[in-house]
Amino acid sequence: MCYNKSMIIVDGKNLAQQIKNEVKEKVKNFATPPVLSCLMVEGDSASEIYVRNKERACNECGLISRMIKLPHEISQTDLEAAIEKQNNDSAVSAILLQSPLPKHLNERQAINKISPAKDVDCLTYENIGKLAAGNCGFAPCTPTGIMRILDSYNIPVAGKLAVVVGRSDLVGRPIAHMLEQRNATVVLCHSKTQNLLELTKQADILVVAIGKTKFITAEYVKDGAVVIDVGINRENGKLYGDVDFENVKNKCLLITPVPGGVGPLTVACLMENTIKLAQNNQI
Ligand SMILES: NC(=O)c1ccc[n+]([C@@H]2O[C@H](COP(=O)([O-])OP(=O)(O)OC[C@H]3O[C@@H](n4cnc5c(N)ncnc54)[C@H](OP(=O)(O)O)[C@@H]3O)[C@@H](O)[C@H]2O)c1
Repeated sequence: MCYNKSMIIVDGKNLAQQIKNEVKEKVKNFATPPVLSCLMVEGDSASEIYVRNKERACNECGLISRMIKLPHEISQTDLEAAIEKQNNDSAVSAILLQSPLPKHLNERQAINKISPAKDVDCLTYENIGKLAAGNCGFAPCTPTGIMRILDSYNIPVAGKLAVVVGRSDLVGRPIAHMLEQRNATVVLCHSKTQNLLELTKQADILVVAIGKTKFITAEYVKDGAVVIDVGINRENGKLYGDVDFENVKNKCLLITPVPGGVGPLTVACLMENTIKLAQNNQI
């Protein structure tokens, strides 16, 4: 089935470049470039790649990337002490704790040790609360990137039915809040949702963040839908989304590819959030 001839495949790289160019200009207004501290507990190969991409983007934008690699066996106490050290360093504007952490560590407890004023992915309970109350002006990087996509392609949100599949603190829950705050009617789905297909196939805007290769097939998607595929699934060295792109794309008004869709926006919005925090911390 082909919805119409004007189906849009989002060019995430291009949009991300625009955001990074804006950041580059803003960095010039600082006497010393803002510092993003990224703490990574060693042992996850995908994280190594993500962290390297973030470092590269910082260099490109003129931000300072401070990479803090911590041993796999680190204790909770030592991890929290490492975070505290960055909180107390006045040169540091933004702190990111790379997920996932090894199983012996309590990720939620560690995240809540990040100073909310330096919490670049808006993940502390304080910042999640502000976001949920619509009083933050600041949101996690991936949902911020998704809203950027919708706005850049002039996708109307108010009054639309948005179905979000996946309810992580990083993606699903915050994007559900942000879409609701832009007056969409939002349904937030998860692994215990019954009749998922009945819900998704009504969606004007479908956001999928579950981590399951090609889970969303054409039957889950309404003709003319806007489909945002957040999933990044690695199989035999290749990346796949949560959406069966080849079979879904022709039904869509707009769709994000994997790779090259949401991913580059996430990194660019991390740069943008770093600048925002640096500006806030200057005031
Ligand atoms: N593109 C990017 O920049 C970016 C950024 C972040 C994440 N990601 C990718 O996005 C994917 C999701 O990651 P995440 O951190 O947001 O989520 P996550 O923490 O991996 O959690 C997965 C979510 O999907 C739900 N889920 C799992 N199977 C489901 C099913 N069959 N039907 C409906 N819901 C289902 C789970 O429900 P329950 O809550 O009930 O368990 C959970 O809420 C991963 O592939 C990740 O790599 C990409």
